[in-house]
Amino acid sequence: MAGKKKETNLQASATNREQWEEVLATKGLTVVDVYQQWCGPCRAVISLLRKINNELSDDLLHFATAEADSIDALEKYRGKCEPTFLFYGGGELVAVLRGANAPLLQRMIVDQLAKEKLMLEHGGQRKVVVDNDLPDDEKIEEQEAHHYSEDGERIIVPATKSYTVAIIKPDAVAHGKANEIIMKIQDAGFEILAQDERTLSETQAREFYQHKDSEDCFEDLVQFMSSGPSHILVLSRLEESSDVVQDWLSFIGPANIEEAKQEKPESLRAQYGTRTLFNAVHGSEDRDGAGRELAFFFPDFSTVSGKAQDAREEPAERTLALIRPDVARENREEILTHMNKSGFKVSLQREVMLTEEQVKEFYVHCNEDDYFPALLQSMTRGRVLALVLTREDAVQHWKNMLGPSDLKKAAEEEPECLRARYYVEGDPVNQLHGSGSTEEASREISFFFPMQQTLAVIKPDGVEKHKNTILEEIRNRGFSITRMEEKLLSKEKAEEFCKEQRERPFFNQLVEFMCSGPCVMMVLEKENGVEEWRAAMGPTDPDWAKREFPDSLRARLGSDVLRNSVHGSSNPKHAQEEIQLIFGDTQKSNPLDPNTEVKEGPELCP
Ligand code: TYD
Ligand code: MG
Repeated sequence: MAGKKKETNLQASATNREQWEEVLATKGLTVVDVYQQWCGPCRAVISLLRKINNELSDDLLHFATAEADSIDALEKYRGKCEPTFLFYGGGELVAVLRGANAPLLQRMIVDQLAKEKLMLEHGGQRKVVVDNDLPDDEKIEEQEAHHYSEDGERIIVPATKSYTVAIIKPDAVAHGKANEIIMKIQDAGFEILAQDERTLSETQAREFYQHKDSEDCFEDLVQFMSSGPSHILVLSRLEESSDVVQDWLSFIGPANIEEAKQEKPESLRAQYGTRTLFNAVHGSEDRDGAGRELAFFFPDFSTVSGKAQDAREEPAERTLALIRPDVARENREEILTHMNKSGFKVSLQREVMLTEEQVKEFYVHCNEDDYFPALLQSMTRGRVLALVLTREDAVQHWKNMLGPSDLKKAAEEEPECLRARYYVEGDPVNQLHGSGSTEEASREISFFFPMQQTLAVIKPDGVEKHKNTILEEIRNRGFSITRMEEKLLSKEKAEEFCKEQRERPFFNQLVEFMCSGPCVMMVLEKENGVEEWRAAMGPTDPDWAKREFPDSLRARLGSDVLRNSVHGSSNPKHAQEEIQLIFGDTQKSNPLDPNTEVKEGPELCP
C-alpha cells in the first residue's frame, strides 16, 4: 500500500478508485481521514496518529487519507467540511468519528483495533455501520468557522495557541538523529505544527544569529549552521495550559554541554550535543523570540493562505528505478525523457555491474521463484542503471508507468506502459524495476546508494581562490560536512597522503604542491558519497573536464592537471584510510563525530 507507515508518511493516500480499493483491501483496521480537495487532510491530528501508531506499534493498524472529490464511493462526503474519520475493518465500515476530537479519536482507535483483532483471531461477524448521519452543512460551517480564514483556507495555528520554534541542528541531522529526536519530541507531548528540512545559507545563518554577532563564536556558529540541513519545527503543547517556550527550553537543557550532562542528563542536548557549538538543538528564548523566528522561517505561517497550501502538499517521495542492462544500453535516453516528462527528478543515479551474489541479495524475497534464474541472467548481462526518482507519490506513480510485471499481460492490457514498450526479444523478464512500497524503496535505495563518507580536500590553489564557491557547491549538492579543518600538510604527511602516486613521474611535484599552502580537509557524507563527490569534482585533468564535464568543479576552477583545486577519495576503502590519516589523531577531540558508523554498503562495481 502506498505510503503506509513510512516515518514521514504515516498515512497512505487515496486519490482515485484504485488506491481506495487498495486501502479497503488492507488487512486489519484502517483509520481514514476523508477530506475535501480544497482544504486537504487534517494536519492537526497527524502527530497524534503518529504517537498512537508508535505506542500501539501494531501491524494491523493502518492510516489513510482519502479525497472525497475524486473517489465515487465517498460521494456523500463531498462538500462536507467537518473533519471525518472512517474506521474500516477488512474493508467494511465499522465506526465513524466527526470532528478532530483527539482523546475520542485515540480511544476509538484502541477499541476498534482490539475488536478487529478479536474478529481476526476468533472469527465471527464484524459489526458494520452505515453512516446516514451526515450533518447539515450550514450548521457545521457556523460551528467550524474559526477553523477557516475568510478566503476559505484552513488556518493552521489558531491565534490563541502558543508556540515555539525549534531547530534540530546540522550536527544532529548529519548523524541521522533527526527522526529519533522528532519521536522524543512527540512522546514528550509537544505537537508539531509545522516542519521543514532546509539548509541555511551563510547569509540566513548570519541573519538568524545577528544578536550574537559580537560574540567570539559568531563566525563558527554561522559556518556550522550553514554546513548542512537542519529541521525547523514549530511546536505547541498538546496540553494547552503549559508554557511551550519554557517547556521546550527545559526539555533541551542548558546550551553548555558539560553543564547539560551534569545537571540534566536526560535533556536532548546532554544526549545529542557534543560541545557548546554543536549542541544539537535550538529553542526560541521567549514568546517574542518565537514570533520573530516564526516570521523568519515561515513568513506566511500565521497569515495562513500561502503556507496552508504548501503545508497540505504531499512531501516528495522517493522510489528506486532499475533499467536492466540491455535496455539501459539501447533506450536510456528515451526512458529518462519519460521520467522527466512525468515530473520525476532523478536525484541519484549510477551504473553498476552486479555479481550474482548481489542480485540474490537484492531480490532476496524471490530467490526461490521459478523466474529467478532468468532474472539473474538478465541482471548480470551488463551494467544496470539505478536511479532514485523523486516526486510526490513516487512509488505508486512509477509503478503505474511501468505497468504489469508479466510481459504478456503488459502487452495485452497496457500496450502503452513502459514494460510493454521496452522489452528484450526472447527474454521473459521485464526490463524495468520499481520499488513496491515506500518501505521497500528505502531498503532498495540504500542497497544501491548507501550512506558513505569520503575525504574531500580543497587543495592550496583552491583555498586561495575558490574556497567559498567550493563550499557552496558541496552544500548545493546535498553533502553534509561532518568535519572540516584547514591544515598545512608536512612533507611527510603529504608523501603518505599521496603514496598511491609514489612511482609516478609527477610524485615530487605533487607533494611539493600539496604542502605549498594550507588545504581545507573535509569529511563529506551523502548517499553514494564517494562517487557523488568524484562526479562533482570531474576528471583529473581540467582540460579534459572542460570538454566532457563543463559543470564540474575541476572544469570551472582547475588550472592544470596538477593544480586541479580539489581532491576526493577514489573508493570507500581509500576514503576510510584517508579520513583516518587526516583526522585519525584528532578523532577523540572531534566533537562532530564521536561514533559515526562506517557504512561501506555492498561493494558495487561501477
Ligand atoms: P589521481 O589519483 O590519478 O587523480 P584524482 O585526483 O582525480 O584522483 O592523481 C592524483 C593527483 O596527482 C591529481 O589530482 C593531480 C596529480 N597528477 C598530476 O600532477 N599529473 C598527472 O598526470 C596526474 C594523472 C595526476
Ligand atoms: Mg586519486
